[in-house]
Amino acid sequence: MRGNFGEHFRLSIFGESHGPGIGIVIDGIPAGTPIDEAEIAQYMARRAPGKDPTATARQEGDQVEILSGVLEGRACGTPVCGLIRNTGMHSGDYRQLVGRMRPGHADYAGWVKYGGYNDPRGGGHFSGRLTAPLVFAGSIARAILREMGITIASHIERIGPVHDPSFAVHPDSALLTRLAASSFPLIDPSVEPAMRRHVEEAKAALDSVGGCVECVALGVPAGIGSPFFGSVESVFSTLAFSVPAVKAVEFGDGTAIADLMGSQANDAMTFDHGHVTCLTNHNGGVTGGITNGMPVLVRVTIKPTPSIARPQQTVDVSTGQDTRLEIHGRHDPCIVPRAAVVIESILAITLLELSMDDAATKPNHP
Ligand SMILES: Cc1cc2nc3c(=O)[nH]c(=O)nc-3n(C[C@H](O)[C@H](O)[C@H](O)COP(=O)(O)O)c2cc1C
Repeated sequence: MRGNFGEHFRLSIFGESHGPGIGIVIDGIPAGTPIDEAEIAQYMARRAPGKDPTATARQEGDQVEILSGVLEGRACGTPVCGLIRNTGMHSGDYRQLVGRMRPGHADYAGWVKYGGYNDPRGGGHFSGRLTAPLVFAGSIARAILREMGITIASHIERIGPVHDPSFAVHPDSALLTRLAASSFPLIDPSVEPAMRRHVEEAKAALDSVGGCVECVALGVPAGIGSPFFGSVESVFSTLAFSVPAVKAVEFGDGTAIADLMGSQANDAMTFDHGHVTCLTNHNGGVTGGITNGMPVLVRVTIKPTPSIARPQQTVDVSTGQDTRLEIHGRHDPCIVPRAAVVIESILAITLLELSMDDAATKPNHP
């Protein structure tokens, strides 16, 4: 198994949903980087469960204990270890599942891969809970990016059939500040009741729903990333598809670009006060794998939560028989609102990792 990411901003996550705790070791944080624990706690709270009717009722504070690498609010330059203790477990909820594989979850694939030795309680290492350490790492990355003039925010672009409008070509920074402060971030707040109704109706029908998070980074200079394997798209996608329940990643117009002619899909370029910019952003701020100075715009599609209370057909590997399964216990009827800050975090990690790489490969202009 591979629990690590990165060559410059290096991450290694660990833990299981119902073990003593989960966490991350981060290598490569420049000495002196401010580590603001109050700000980190705000990001962690946006992902933490138990706060909203669209989320699981599992109560977790998700407080990060920093075990190493930080002194008096500044990174020491040595590895930073963040530990999040698990407190709100009901492992008994998983006894009914022994041998019975949840359709859509990792139970069967994980059981085959690890020969039944993996911890199935609460999804074990496959749990969405393992995204909490990514939010911790993302908080540190965002602090470094902010010094470079880069800010990141996201909104719930859709839940099921209910859509929020997309970001404008040049989103204004006041909108980003408003979204960053919201636990249910929307560009048009008037769509919130319809989105919530869709989740509540699914929950009442013992079902779940999916949706999409749209995330933007403003102030990204041109020149971050490389062609081919170190492209912004490839590195972001590696992280995005590492997040449980993510099923699609798009940059700019994404799959909709197939409907356009080249003359429509090309982003016309212009000088604005001496800076090169584009009149549209169909390419999502990335061309040739490299940022082009436009806002970096991504959309990440998240599937409906697999654990649902509605009876489902599945297999019992302990008896070798087909069986029926009703999953009781605490699950998110919709993962999307809690995932928004996770997507912001992985975009921050991507841009920091690649800008550190960029520092090593930039030409020396005469
Ligand atoms: C923030 C977050 C919360 C999640 N909550 C749940 C949950 O309550 N119940 C569940 O069955 N899956 C939940 N998931 C999704 C599963 O972890 C995921 O579907 C499963 O590990 C299989 O991985 P895959 O969907 O990427 O194939 C959550 C994912 C995230 C990112």
